[in-house]
Amino acid sequence: MSSFNIQVNRKDINQYKIVKQEAPTIDSLADGQILVKVDQFAFTSNNITYAAVADMVGYWKFFPASDEWGIIPVWGFADVIASKNESIQVGERFYGYYPMGSHLIMSPGKVKPTNFSDVITHRQALPPIYNNYINTKTDPGYSKKGEAIQSLFRPLFTTSFLIDDFMEDNDFFGGSTIILTSASSKTAIGLAHLLAKRKSDRSLTIIGLTSKGNMEFVEGLGHYDQVLSYDQFASISKNEHSIIVDFSGNAKVQENLQGHLGSKLVYNCLVGMVDWTQRGGADSAATNGKFFFAPTQALKRNKEWGVEGFQQRVGIAWMGFTSQVGDWMTVKDSVGALELAALYSPMLNGKIDPKIGHIVKL
Ligand SMILES: NC(=O)c1ccc[n+]([C@@H]2O[C@H](COP(=O)([O-])OP(=O)(O)OC[C@H]3O[C@@H](n4cnc5c(N)ncnc54)[C@H](OP(=O)(O)O)[C@@H]3O)[C@@H](O)[C@H]2O)c1
Repeated sequence: MSSFNIQVNRKDINQYKIVKQEAPTIDSLADGQILVKVDQFAFTSNNITYAAVADMVGYWKFFPASDEWGIIPVWGFADVIASKNESIQVGERFYGYYPMGSHLIMSPGKVKPTNFSDVITHRQALPPIYNNYINTKTDPGYSKKGEAIQSLFRPLFTTSFLIDDFMEDNDFFGGSTIILTSASSKTAIGLAHLLAKRKSDRSLTIIGLTSKGNMEFVEGLGHYDQVLSYDQFASISKNEHSIIVDFSGNAKVQENLQGHLGSKLVYNCLVGMVDWTQRGGADSAATNGKFFFAPTQALKRNKEWGVEGFQQRVGIAWMGFTSQVGDWMTVKDSVGALELAALYSPMLNGKIDPKIGHIVKL
């Protein structure tokens, strides 16, 4: 049997190659290890951002390749096809963080009926949230039918939840207007959905900034009070204390908003950089704010609420969100290495219809 992965040039993420090799077997495993075959995963701009910021955040370290090449992490499902770990059986299926490729050797630790942590040496210094794998057999939220939505949204919606929670935790920094850039991105849509729910308790105007071509789609979602294209930023009111939640990472967009809002800008929350080629240098306007790293806020809430309390809160919010995702998003499958490769450049260059959720099946 052969295996493959897609490797990206770490110095120029426009370049990628499909690497095929002999698949590992049970003989490749040390005692306690398992071999999984990746079955399917979601591919969104978030994965491109992993590549774009990998050197800063350490994303290349999860699934190391050789020389100047790196493997992008993805969220999805994999099946155990060989096991030298007595607590994990062949045929078990786990949701988690996998390489953009077909096979992975893992070293499960802290194995419970519900989950395990990959304790392989090279991952130990990386944020623990990425090393956790959930057993579909015992996950109450799991259904076979829901796999695509889970792969596409679980990490992104958890981020939406954490930003919404972070804002409430900080009394929205005294702001009453919140401006989301790349308003058509899945993480922004999740956040706008949650923020809209807060409007019964607090005065909040939710503004979505998006590309001209995506305006109609974003307006149709019904979560935003006002939807503007990037060049219409000047019509945002300058009378209200405002927050930016930036998913685009575009320096010009940030410069325009910061200049326009002036002292009314009370918090600039830097979450994403889908527009990774327009970020500018280390001192560009796109870096003039506070970085939001979901695993950090998750760790804080896990400590304060307990793991179960946290999961319960996210779970309730998740049900409310996913019940309406089908109204605006269609799932599209790409099958195999070649179709995945064909999706790579459009995803890198923002040529993806936000109404489509891309799932890659191997
Ligand atoms: N900090 C954290 O902890 C954290 C956690 C999760 C996600 N994120 C970040 O949130 C961002 C959104 O991720 P997602 O997966 O939700 O995105 P997505 O759904 O794939 O977003 C698609 C949208 O992003 C914009 N876009 C995508 N590629 C672009 C490009 N090359 N140039 C210009 N615009 C582009 C377009 O929106 P518009 O037309 O509306 O601009 C597009 O409709 C990512 O940067 C991700 O890494 C951060």
